Amino acid sequence: MKFAFYNSIALADLAYLVAAVLFVLALRGLSSQQTSRRGNLYGIIGMVIAIGATLAAPPISSAELQAGMTTSFHPLLIGSIVVAVVIGALMATRVGMTQMPEMVALLHSFVGLAAVLVGFSLQLTHNTELAERIEIFVDVFIGAVTTTGSVLAFLKLRGSVSGKPLLLPLRHLLNLAMITAIAVLGFLYARDGQDWTIEIATAIAGVLGVHLVAAIGGADMPVVVSMLNSYSGWTAAAAGFMLQNDLLIITGALVGSSGAILSYIMCRAMNRSIYSVIFGGFGAAPPKAAKGPAAPAGDVHEIDATALAAKLKESKSVIIVPGYGMAVARAQHAVRELTEVLRKAGVTVRFAIHPVAGRLPGHMNVLLAEANVPYDIVLEMDEINHDFPTTDVAIVIGANDIVNPAAEDDPTSPIAGMPVLQVWKSHLVIVNKRSRAAGYAGIDNPLFYKPVTKMLFGDAKDAIEKVVAALKT
Ligand code: TAP
Repeated sequence: MKFAFYNSIALADLAYLVAAVLFVLALRGLSSQQTSRRGNLYGIIGMVIAIGATLAAPPISSAELQAGMTTSFHPLLIGSIVVAVVIGALMATRVGMTQMPEMVALLHSFVGLAAVLVGFSLQLTHNTELAERIEIFVDVFIGAVTTTGSVLAFLKLRGSVSGKPLLLPLRHLLNLAMITAIAVLGFLYARDGQDWTIEIATAIAGVLGVHLVAAIGGADMPVVVSMLNSYSGWTAAAAGFMLQNDLLIITGALVGSSGAILSYIMCRAMNRSIYSVIFGGFGAAPPKAAKGPAAPAGDVHEIDATALAAKLKESKSVIIVPGYGMAVARAQHAVRELTEVLRKAGVTVRFAIHPVAGRLPGHMNVLLAEANVPYDIVLEMDEINHDFPTTDVAIVIGANDIVNPAAEDDPTSPIAGMPVLQVWKSHLVIVNKRSRAAGYAGIDNPLFYKPVTKMLFGDAKDAIEKVVAALKT
């Protein structure tokens, strides 16, 4: 019996090691489009091994150990896994690409909630020691911030709650007061282990999570999502310490650090300070809040598909700037066809990808890869931004904030300082969208009124298909 028990520990450790290596390989694979499918597969296999090994490993509860259980296999656990797998599979198949960030934010809240529940269950069922209480408190604190922050991020991304930043006059003092109260309660909890201390701290941490995310405005939401991703990783790592599960510690640390690196990269790309995002605008002058969709200012010049096709036939170089609208319209295949037709006609076509185009990191890259657009003509903002002055036509497809010159020209704009694609420097700019409506940041776009710009109104898929048809005739 004892032999079998130690054997199952050794096997579980070995399986955890294999799963951990697979998770590292998964992250490596996900770092480029060519290897991302393989990376995903490694992640799936690693997760299946991890769940199997956790079920086969000895239980952590002393009551179950005393009852002679040698594995964590329990009918209730299997039942919950089956239900969760069905719900997860349904959600994954039903969610559209445009709703993916909402789903990611919601999933982060589940990680946070799981950590809070595990922490409370250990507190309520075990006689904890000082070190364990510190682990539980840290886990529950990060978990509560992640849960409520992610739920608010989900509601903001969904549009159920306004994307306007909530900038309370004494918000930094309020944050400081909440953090101080949590620290004091943490000290009391570590010393005495009383339930009420951790319960009140959890409630305050929940309010802190809401307040931190509420202070962040629409255009900065991508950084918040990647930061909550990082928090969910650290929560999982803290839960790993609590449950003495090495794999959870490794996986949590991988997610936590990769999320932190992604947040840093996105902050740099958007010219935002990571501290101001973490502390809800700390150290940054409060930007002028967007007042919902701005009223259009100025006259626009329209162009139709036939006239555009004629212009394109005369051009030598074209840069396509895709944005959220391309995802909404599912226009990526039409865009690929446009690319093919133009390239066959000898036009150099390249894509300019802004780091926050769409609604999730790499959104445009995923769509273009799905439509089989060659990787080598898809360039990042820094690689292509200086090429607009020598470009004949820049075609903006369903993008808005990422090509808004106000980011450079208007210091009071909510997106002031955010690097944008300088499409207006090309010889002709075509903006395809359905109306003059604002983008995610809710602000007007002076690009529409520039003499160099012509608007191609209409749904991106329809409009681009018409241009392709006109080019073929
Ligand atoms: P947006 O600024 O949101 O503009 C998208 C434009 O697409 C809209 O103005 C809309 O105008 C147009 N559109 C919608 N449906 C369309 C359709 N069927 N056909 C043609 N056009 C359509 O998008 P963006 O330029 O990609 O910028 C992204 C924004 O989202 C940034 O503010 C960014 O900070 C924020 N954000 C990004 C992320 C990540 S991680 N990428 C996450 C959260 C938020 P009409 O209604 O007039 O058509």
